Amino acid sequence: MKNKMKGENRVVQKRLKPALGQLRDRHRLVGAEIGVAYGTHASYYLKELDIECVFLIDPYIEYENYTCQAGKLKESLEAVEKIAHTKLCGYEQKIKWIKKKSAEASQLIADDSLDFVYRDGNHSYDSVVEDISLYYSKLKKGGLFSGHDYDWEGVKRAVDEFVKTCNLDLYIETTGEVRGRDTYDWWIWKKEKGKYE
Ligand SMILES: C[S@@+](CC[C@H](N)C(=O)[O-])C[C@H]1O[C@@H](n2cnc3c(N)ncnc32)[C@H](O)[C@@H]1O
Repeated sequence: MKNKMKGENRVVQKRLKPALGQLRDRHRLVGAEIGVAYGTHASYYLKELDIECVFLIDPYIEYENYTCQAGKLKESLEAVEKIAHTKLCGYEQKIKWIKKKSAEASQLIADDSLDFVYRDGNHSYDSVVEDISLYYSKLKKGGLFSGHDYDWEGVKRAVDEFVKTCNLDLYIETTGEVRGRDTYDWWIWKKEKGKYE
């Protein structure tokens, strides 16, 4: 594991997070973000990266195992969705909104078509396992699979198992502190075909 867990960033970084920061020298990127919420992170990478197209995937509904409270959102998901559309209105020609849960949305995305996936939706173990199993095949070889909140138990366990099973290198870097808690991005580069394809 290439670990940069101990960064100096003690407050949340209001800019592109480190995982997608790895793509600064790549061009005409096609990607997907799972869990968009207010579109805050999307607004950073749409500004700072050369994005041709991004699938923004979020059902904007509460369901079993996912509530606003669990997601630590301040507004209703209906209000959050409106804020996201307003925030990102300058980038509409590059965005394909998919208002569905990630599992359903995966059926609309072709295999071997994405340069990156950034996963920040439901942080339960089962949901992370499901997203990894459904989205790894969507990446081109050399693509970046990534996400937030590696410090969450379910995220860490699912990512660690995947990395071990497929014998991949895992990268971790701090994204600053949120509500007194250090948060982390994780990412891997797609190499070989493995169990998850
Ligand atoms: C932590 S927020 C995302 C924050 C965003 N990535 C950012 O950094 O600006 C989590 C979001 O995941 C969404 N979500 C929950 N379950 C999901 C699922 N199964 N598929 C896709 N999105 C989901 C929620 O509706 C919520 O808006």
